[in-house]
Parts: sequence; structure tokens; C-alpha cells
Amino acid sequence: MMVLRKLCRTSLSFSVNKIRHFSSKQDPPRILITGGLGQLGVECARYLRNKYGRENVILTDIIKPSMEVANDGPYIFADILDFKGLQKIVVDHRVDWLIHFSALLSAIGEQNVPLAVRVNIEGMHNVIELAKQYRLRIFVPSTIGAFGPDSPRNPTPNVTVQRPRTIYGVSKVHAELLGEYYYHRFGLDFRCLRFPGVISSDPPGGGTTDYAIAIFHDVLRKGHHECYLKPDTRLPMMHVRDALRALSEFLEAPNESLKRRVYNVTAMSFTPEELADKISAHIPELRISYRPDSRQDIADSWPQVFDDSEAKRDWNWKPEVHMDDLVTLMIKEVKEKIAANGF
Ligand SMILES: NC(=O)c1ccc[n+]([C@@H]2O[C@H](COP(=O)([O-])OP(=O)(O)OC[C@H]3O[C@@H](n4cnc5c(N)ncnc54)[C@H](O)[C@@H]3O)[C@@H](O)[C@H]2O)c1
Repeated sequence: MMVLRKLCRTSLSFSVNKIRHFSSKQDPPRILITGGLGQLGVECARYLRNKYGRENVILTDIIKPSMEVANDGPYIFADILDFKGLQKIVVDHRVDWLIHFSALLSAIGEQNVPLAVRVNIEGMHNVIELAKQYRLRIFVPSTIGAFGPDSPRNPTPNVTVQRPRTIYGVSKVHAELLGEYYYHRFGLDFRCLRFPGVISSDPPGGGTTDYAIAIFHDVLRKGHHECYLKPDTRLPMMHVRDALRALSEFLEAPNESLKRRVYNVTAMSFTPEELADKISAHIPELRISYRPDSRQDIADSWPQVFDDSEAKRDWNWKPEVHMDDLVTLMIKEVKEKIAANGF
């Protein structure tokens, strides 16, 4: 009888309605970011530290941080393949929210499929069990790469066929489904945004949309960019400022407002040719040439225009950085990077 009562209590406490929600009036959440030294992690830590306090955001990765990152706030080693190590961090630092960034991206994943399976799939198993065990709110980014050639591409709605042809896409569909399953089965507060290509001045991690970052670095340093996609390849994109605001607003959204656990978000869609045109308004001497490689096949199977109307409807998502602002911002930010680091 005692055991039965205990079991009932446990399953009740996992009930969907009882998911904890932090509002700005309560104590700030303690946040752990995995894979934090990639394109999104460092900026994300900065953004969330401004909001919740420096000590409340713990950045982790398996690589050695720069002095700048180490001085910015708490940084510790965490391998997502080491479950016990993750448990220790969550316990020692009293973690409430987990932002799971560790991954091998689309182009890199194709170069090392076994490693992508380990990091993207086994790693996901670890963090989701961890989140369940310690009742964490967990955010996992997905991607336009979670769609494939059978999906409608213009626009791609929130719920549709998902048959990706990259190991990256397969692992992200797996993460989406696993998260939804843990939500329905255990009441886990799983939240997932499908990001388009995220554009920032930091070096990208080996994705198919990276050209939209590389073009600014190349053009500002040497006036010329060789693009690995054809000029008319249309892909959805977003500036990192919008991506991090989306992440933060979505993490704060009350559970009652969320009709689903996985949402598309985007800000714009453009082709390499259209981007080059916009940049040439600032840098008329810009030269661009095209030499498509294997990334073209990946891009050809991905959404061209992403439908994020459900995110707009349910938690008031609204992009702020549109294409003209994006180009102005990137030219300024990349110039500053080049001046500071020489790269
Ligand atoms: N950048 C984008 O355009 C974009 C778009 C859509 C989705 N996303 C998703 O956002 C997340 C972050 O993207 P990003 O661009 O910062 O990626 P990134 O490749 O720049 O960084 C990933 C990080 O994961 C770390 N990592 C690898 N193996 C690990 C392990 N075993 N343990 C712990 N960390 C490990 C790497 O060291 C790296 O710093 C990813 O999950 C990605 O799928 C990114």
C-alpha cells in the first residue's frame, strides 16, 4: 500500500500541470549550457547572464576556453557522454534549467557519422534522462535540417512530413520526438525551437548555412567570397540576437500558453545572390563566385521559407532583425572582430 501511494505521488508530481514556472519575480533559475563554446553558447551565456545574473549561468564544453570566456563567468568541463559527470554538475550547482547545445552540425556530421550518432543521439539520451531525474526544464534546439526532400519547402509548416537525409537531421527529429514523449509520459518540461541558419560574427560550427557568415568575413578581409551554394539557393535565416531572444522568451513562456513543445522560428529567407546584392550596397567592390559542393544537396532538401505562425500565435514570437538591419549589423560586428583579433 505504501509503495502504491508512493508510486501515485511520483506519477502525480510528474503531471504536466505541475511543471514549475519561474517568473521574473521569483528567484532566478540556475542555468547549465552544454556545448557552450560553439557559435551560439558564448553569446547565449552573455545574454542570459544579463537577465539572470553572472553566477546563475554555467557554461560548459569539452574544450579549453579563451581567457575572455573564462573571465566572463562560471565555466566548467562537461562531456555530455559522461552521465555521472553531468549528475555531479547538476547537483553541485543546483541547476534548474538545462540548455543543450552540444552537437555535430550538418556538414561536419556527414564527415563523421559514428561520432555524430554518439554526440547527437547518445548525448541526447543522457541529457533527457538527467532532466527527468532532477526535474529540470530542458531546452534543445532543432533546425530546418530536421526536414527533408518530402517536406513542403515553401512554406514549411510546424507539423508536416519529416524525412531528413543527414545524420544531423535524423538526430534532431529523434530529439524532438524523444522530448515530446518525455513530456507526455513523465511531464518533463521539454522545450524545443527549430532554428533556421543563425548568423553572428562568431565562427560557425560547420553547418550548411555557414556561407551567410563566411561571406562577411571574406569580403571584409579580401573583397572576394567563393560560395559553396548556387546563387539561387533560398534558405531561412535569423540574426543571433533574434535567436537568443526567441530562446529566452520561449523558456519564460508559461506552460499554459504552449500548444506544443516544438516550434518553428525564423526571421527571413534569402539566397546567396540576394545577400551579396545587399552587401554590395555597403561594399560596392565585393566579388562573389560560386562553386557548389556537397552542401548544395543538403540545402536542396531543406525548407526555403519557414512558417513560424504557431510561435507567433502561442507565445508572441516576433522577429526584430530583418535583412537590411542584419547586413548593417554584420558589417559592423565583423569589422570589430577583425580589428580586435585580426581574424
Ligand atoms: N548555428 C546555427 O545556425 C544553428 C541552427 C539551428 C540549430 N542549431 C543548434 O544549436 C546548437 C548550437 O549550435 P552551434 O552553432 O553553437 O554549434 P557548434 O558546432 O558551434 O558548437 C557545438 C559545441 O558542442 C561541443 N561538443 C561536441 N562534443 C561534445 C561533447 N561530447 N560534450 C560536450 N560538448 C560537446 C563542441 O565542442 C562545440 O563547442 C546545436 O545543437 C545546433 O544543432 C544551430
